[in-house]
Amino acid sequence: MKIGILTGGGDCPGLNAVVRGVTKSALQHGWEVIGFRDGYRGLVEKDFIQLHDHDVSGIIIRGGTILGTSNTANPFAYTLEPLGSADKPKDLSKLAFKNFKELELDALVAIGGDGTLTMAQQLYKRGMPVVGVPKTIDNDLSATDVTFGFDSALHVATEAVDRVHTTAESHNRVIIVETMGRYAGWIALRSGIAGGGDIILLPEIPYRAEDIVRAVLDRKRRGKKFSIIVVAEGARPEKGGMTVGKVVKGSPDPLRLGGVSYKIAELLDGKIGLESRVVVLGHVQRGGEPTAFDRWLATGFGVKAAELLAGKKFGQMVSFRDYGFTGVSIAAAVGKLRLVSPSAQEVRTALAVGTSFGNSRIAK
Ligand code: F6P
Repeated sequence: MKIGILTGGGDCPGLNAVVRGVTKSALQHGWEVIGFRDGYRGLVEKDFIQLHDHDVSGIIIRGGTILGTSNTANPFAYTLEPLGSADKPKDLSKLAFKNFKELELDALVAIGGDGTLTMAQQLYKRGMPVVGVPKTIDNDLSATDVTFGFDSALHVATEAVDRVHTTAESHNRVIIVETMGRYAGWIALRSGIAGGGDIILLPEIPYRAEDIVRAVLDRKRRGKKFSIIVVAEGARPEKGGMTVGKVVKGSPDPLRLGGVSYKIAELLDGKIGLESRVVVLGHVQRGGEPTAFDRWLATGFGVKAAELLAGKKFGQMVSFRDYGFTGVSIAAAVGKLRLVSPSAQEVRTALAVGTSFGNSRIAK
């Protein structure tokens, strides 16, 4: 076989470990492997590198992706110049198929989140043999218990929550830590629990200003003159929408969230008798080396992807279920986000240790 690999969407720790896992496994089968540069741009523009054993050696530890990535290159609505344009996206999927054929490829491995895998599914439906690998720090993909990158982001966020505690406590301040996660609150929820956050605000549990104020004042009354609020970038008030920081034209989801923490600081202003400060973690959460868990998970995903290729199980995505690697249909995994359920056990766990979700209607 000859296979192509691409990494699409936002980078995240563990991508290189997957590329290594697929490549090493494929080479053992005696297959030839190429890596497309910058996600689907490489497939559309026939820009690729040959992957040998030495190319993937030593990369398990490296963050980012040696192949490069793009969160705008979409073969079905191509906006990258010179072939496409942001104002007039072009359907270049036929060119992608032509290149696939000319390169004499037998299969494509698409490593990415919802956007990348949706495109993979569209290519598969039109006849391209594709296998998907689920990536995202947001951990919001259906059909897998966990995605690689999440654990690494979680460690960064938890460390940040740990670190701001000292200043909050010394200065009697409220410190608001804003995490990524897009429409899902997993990073905020788990780092909030792990870091002992006092208030956790999630997109899935819209907040009420008066309940956040009450939670801070309750703590003050109990002699705790500081509070740590962990807020997911997608958190929103009961009567209101999410805070959009930026719109990226040509991206499968053009909205970039960010800045809700400033709104939380504003609503506390003058009501709690304490100063507040904001820390927006941003891309720090996506950077650096993958954790041991993510390296392990990504390697398992890569090897399982090669196994699916060997079995010609195209249109499938690797998945981690009940501590085992398996294959599921890509179609089942995309389009439906895996969100935090307000009645989830871990939400109840946080409530049981006195954490507030900024909404008194959420009962234990
Ligand atoms: O999906 C991963 C993610 O990091 C989200 O948590 C965040 O909302 C978004 O990507 C940021 O995208 P960009 O890197 O394009 O700013």
